[in-house]
Amino acid sequence: MLRDRAEMSNVSTYLATCSAGFEIEAEKEILRLVPKAEVHSLFFKGNILIKCPSSTDLISILKENETRYIGSIIPVNKAIKISKKKSDLKRVYDEILNLGMLKKGERFVVCCKRRGKHEFTSQDVEREIGGLLEESLGAIVDLKNPAKIVTIQIFQDIAFIGVIRADEVLKKEIKIFRKYKCGERPLTRAEHKLREAIRVFNIEIKPNFRVLDLGAAPGGWTRVLAGLVDHVVSIDPADLDPSVKNLPNVTHLKCKAEDIPRNIGPFDLIVNDMNIDPVKSAKIMVKLADLLKKGSTALMTIKFITRNRKRHVADAIDILKSEYKDFKVRRLPHNRYETTICMRRA
Ligand SMILES: C[S@@+](CC[C@H](N)C(=O)[O-])C[C@H]1O[C@@H](n2cnc3c(N)ncnc32)[C@H](O)[C@@H]1O
Repeated sequence: MLRDRAEMSNVSTYLATCSAGFEIEAEKEILRLVPKAEVHSLFFKGNILIKCPSSTDLISILKENETRYIGSIIPVNKAIKISKKKSDLKRVYDEILNLGMLKKGERFVVCCKRRGKHEFTSQDVEREIGGLLEESLGAIVDLKNPAKIVTIQIFQDIAFIGVIRADEVLKKEIKIFRKYKCGERPLTRAEHKLREAIRVFNIEIKPNFRVLDLGAAPGGWTRVLAGLVDHVVSIDPADLDPSVKNLPNVTHLKCKAEDIPRNIGPFDLIVNDMNIDPVKSAKIMVKLADLLKKGSTALMTIKFITRNRKRHVADAIDILKSEYKDFKVRRLPHNRYETTICMRRA
């Protein structure tokens, strides 16, 4: 859908940045200035896609009006699907040629920003496509004073391409970065996340429980759990917030989940919020299953490392089912970039 729209001539497409977590505020800011715009959040936080009627000059409107949430705005001429393979750069190059917006003798620069996993770096893209365009069109790479900028913004499997005049790139100052006071945000958000999961999955937590918290720092989940049970063992190579670390019923083992001593069980509940590949996380859960009492609950978040959410969940459950059963899967409102799995030790 993104590709089709970017190609429609009566619609202009732009990518914009904002502070991560402020996509909704950035959208409101755009809609206040251009009520007919459509704004979409992208899979990678802090990036939005804006579509306006092509009669609207969004760059001029944003130049003239004060904004608080919007950062850079880049016009997009084309969006194409790509794979992680380096050979796909040739397709990006072909699309730039097809646009016909770069002419012989024009001074240009290629600017690439890449998000996701690929077999190439942003510099590879800039060098390879810059070289090909010089060779085929007779345009001249000029890093210091280009007249045109070829922008290539890659979001995992979509490449947004623009060929724009240097003065069409707009960088605005983002004035609001934080919703919470310094140091408060991660803890508070994480606490909401766990409370929501406990409620939605109806997880029974008794005061005499011992709980293992994997990937515990800075300590939001540990703090919630410490308020509910006798003892929490928190695992994370990173530091816990001092207000959590000093709680009398919290033990912090400053190590990776892969390295925890085997004699620290048994536990009545294991929670896992490690920000790692879902397959790796599931393998760790399987390895640690014997620390969890039979029939007891385990809760884990599946971080979406690509857009293929269903596959990440399916791959994780495929591994987990050797030791766990009764899987419940929910995408919770406090967890837009992950899925939460609740299960029981088989
Ligand atoms: C999203 S944060 C967890 C937030 C936490 N639940 C809270 O409430 O504050 C992810 C954590 O996982 C930790 N982590 C990543 N890989 C890990 C591993 N292999 N073993 C243990 N912790 C890990 C990171 O250090 C990071 O602190």
